Amino acid sequence: MKATKHQYDVLVVGAGLAGLRAALEVAPVSKACVLTKVYPSRSHSGAAQGGIAAALGNASPDSLEEHIFDTVKGSDYLGDQDAIEILISEAPEIIYEYEHFGVPFDRMADGRLAQRPFGGHSRPRAVYCMDYTGHVLLHTLYEQCIKQDVKFFSEFYTMSLIIRDGVCRGVVAWDTQKGGLHVFHAKAVILGTGGYGRAYKITTNALANTGDGLALASRAGIPIEDIEFVQFHPTGLYKQGILLSEGARGEGAYLTNNLGQRFMEKYAPGKMELAPRDVISRSIQTEVDEGRGINGQDYVYLDIRHLGEQKILERIPQIKDLAQKYLGVDCVTAPVPIQPTAHYSMGGIPTNNDAEVLLDGKDKKVIGLYAAGECACVSVHGGNRLGTNSLLEATLYGRRAGRSAVRFLRDEVLSSLPEDSPDDSQKRIDEIWSKNGSEMPAAIQRELQASMTTGCGVFRQEEGLRQVQEKIQTLKERYRKIRAIDRNSIFNLDLIEAIELGNVLGFAEMIVAGALNRKESRGAHFRKDFPKRDDVNWLKHTLVYRDGDTLRFDYKPVRITRYQPQERKY
Ligand code: FUM
Repeated sequence: MKATKHQYDVLVVGAGLAGLRAALEVAPVSKACVLTKVYPSRSHSGAAQGGIAAALGNASPDSLEEHIFDTVKGSDYLGDQDAIEILISEAPEIIYEYEHFGVPFDRMADGRLAQRPFGGHSRPRAVYCMDYTGHVLLHTLYEQCIKQDVKFFSEFYTMSLIIRDGVCRGVVAWDTQKGGLHVFHAKAVILGTGGYGRAYKITTNALANTGDGLALASRAGIPIEDIEFVQFHPTGLYKQGILLSEGARGEGAYLTNNLGQRFMEKYAPGKMELAPRDVISRSIQTEVDEGRGINGQDYVYLDIRHLGEQKILERIPQIKDLAQKYLGVDCVTAPVPIQPTAHYSMGGIPTNNDAEVLLDGKDKKVIGLYAAGECACVSVHGGNRLGTNSLLEATLYGRRAGRSAVRFLRDEVLSSLPEDSPDDSQKRIDEIWSKNGSEMPAAIQRELQASMTTGCGVFRQEEGLRQVQEKIQTLKERYRKIRAIDRNSIFNLDLIEAIELGNVLGFAEMIVAGALNRKESRGAHFRKDFPKRDDVNWLKHTLVYRDGDTLRFDYKPVRITRYQPQERKY
């Protein structure tokens, strides 16, 4: 393979909060670079709005124990409790670190950091910057990385991991701007590649969220953990899916049906609009399915009129802006049409608490490979993530990944980096360019997304899942017959989209197989034909391996330390 070569101590793939925080940890002591398929400040972490969680106790008394318990309960007892304990205990430190990096968090009148309520949290613990929290954190970390001279390779698309004898030695990437393959040799590789919401038609996720990290890992023989757990955020802008922050409900917004009822009083009377996302999304879907959607259609209202224009502009201005721009609705005077929208992947590449990637259910490591953020599964979110715990997780486990990589460089006796890197990346590109069929990738992707939304969404059952499974097989056949229109090397987005579509088809197949396999309802995975949680048979993590066209399942136990599973009621 003819390719440009590079050498770094630590190479990070992905420039969201996890990747940037990891790079920042490494940069002062080792030569680090970040590869990203977009531009760093366009990473999807920037789309997070409502806040980042920590039990600071500023707006009301709070404790680490309460935050830990809320997270365990929110996860429907599938979260690993030792990992959750780390997440919550180190959270305050992460917030103060961000503050010292220069993040302009909102404050209370007495000068302390303001905190707002969020779904499933029993105390107001979301620290925020209006409803632009992710955007502000992302830009701040990027600035810090620039200050530390982190080298960025923007618009580089990672094609494969170089793994030799169980040790990760770098990646092969395609330079989208100029064309051409590059081999990056590194002693440690950290994945922070984000989620896979683009398998769905209605999603909050950016176009870039095509699960590339999962595809890299599963092609290298690494299993994917708990992939069946896909979070639907209750309040996506109708038909667009764009996020309208839970921060709105944190500030007091209502959800209403076509009878003008605040229907959450039927489903979660103790929490109302601040129940966890899985509960609210199912409640909205039930209202719609039973004919109480607005005008008999598939949406309900998010009503924030009673907050008043001043508070809306002060606390949640982005919501006002998005509703106006995309639906022409002024939320100061009218309720906003919303529907559940695919938002977050609870599952991902299995890691231990030091962000080291695991090859099986028995903690065998891939030496020199780390993962953090949405592409990883530690697992702190289990079956359902609480809002604002993801910015926290991405930052904290990104930092842990960076620290682990630094320790690895210091402690391990490394053999020299490989001289050459036999790899199939060029062959895969040539294969796409040689295709002369009649199928357009975009059409295949649209059909996949529609099918996943209908058959593998908020509610699932065997018949619908089998239909999606068949559809995916047909689409995979059609994918083999795509047409490559653009065969140039320079800024060839046709090529990238074709590769991404292959990835999306691959993990969509895993999501559906995982959803069929798990015969119970837990967190965001709700089977109408198995509506109860089944701790006897299913209190365990799923691992799915890809071997060519076949998928194989294995399992590993949930780590329970303090809290035995109880019935989950709100
Ligand atoms: O609703 C929101 O602002 C989203 C936050 C999150 O997913 O953590």
